[in-house]
Amino acid sequence: MSDNPVPPNLHVSRHPAVLHKLAILRDQQTEPKKFREVVRELSWLLGYEALADARLRPLRVRTPLAEVEAHELGDRIGLVPILRAGLGMVDAMLELMPTAQVWHLGLFRDERTLRPVEYYNKLPDSATVDLCLILDPMLATGGSATAAIDVLKRWGANRIKLINLIAAPEGVAAVSAAHPDVTIHCAALDRGLNDKGYILPGLGDAGDRQFGTGRRD
Ligand code: PRP
Ligand code: URA
Repeated sequence: MSDNPVPPNLHVSRHPAVLHKLAILRDQQTEPKKFREVVRELSWLLGYEALADARLRPLRVRTPLAEVEAHELGDRIGLVPILRAGLGMVDAMLELMPTAQVWHLGLFRDERTLRPVEYYNKLPDSATVDLCLILDPMLATGGSATAAIDVLKRWGANRIKLINLIAAPEGVAAVSAAHPDVTIHCAALDRGLNDKGYILPGLGDAGDRQFGTGRRD
């Protein structure tokens, strides 16, 4: 991690369960099946933290004994996984918020330029949610996240949070400069990027490690 101060829109989890699972995720020996399981568990924990300020609506329910003031989620929540690596984060978030809508965005990083290329977007004409949670395990240069936020803001989303498993300072700086209103929740803020734009120490390629598509030579 760099010595730079943590920007106010960045939340790095300190929860022991998160740190324990992060070590498993980073370990190059972790096979895709276990990797997917831990992506899912970490997503649940980070999603739980990210929703701490979600809006509530009052509700009265009747227990077997009496009536009581209770609450229900007041925000219409949209989950926006960035294909493909963000897919592995969706199920856990849907467990947390079963009524959430899921809107997929397809972006890949051009390996040469490191710029994001959009290849899938079926958002309807105007926003149908109050709070968007963008799901992507890795925030590297920040190009993909910034592009996704641009798309969502053009769509009409005005409350957006970014949930990553690992972030690089370069990506945090890029997102914070372009979209200071977007909060970033992650399990780790790593050292930086290598000359191929990979996060150091990171975990490698999050998509390949989930889906078993990495190089085998
Ligand atoms: C990875 C990752 C992010 C992006 C981060 O996706 O899941 O979307 O790179 O890099 P950036 O911050 O520099 O934009 P990738 O492009 O490898 O596509 P994939 O999910 O299909 O593997
Ligand atoms: N995408 C990944 O999957 N890993 C990185 O380290 C950077 C971008």
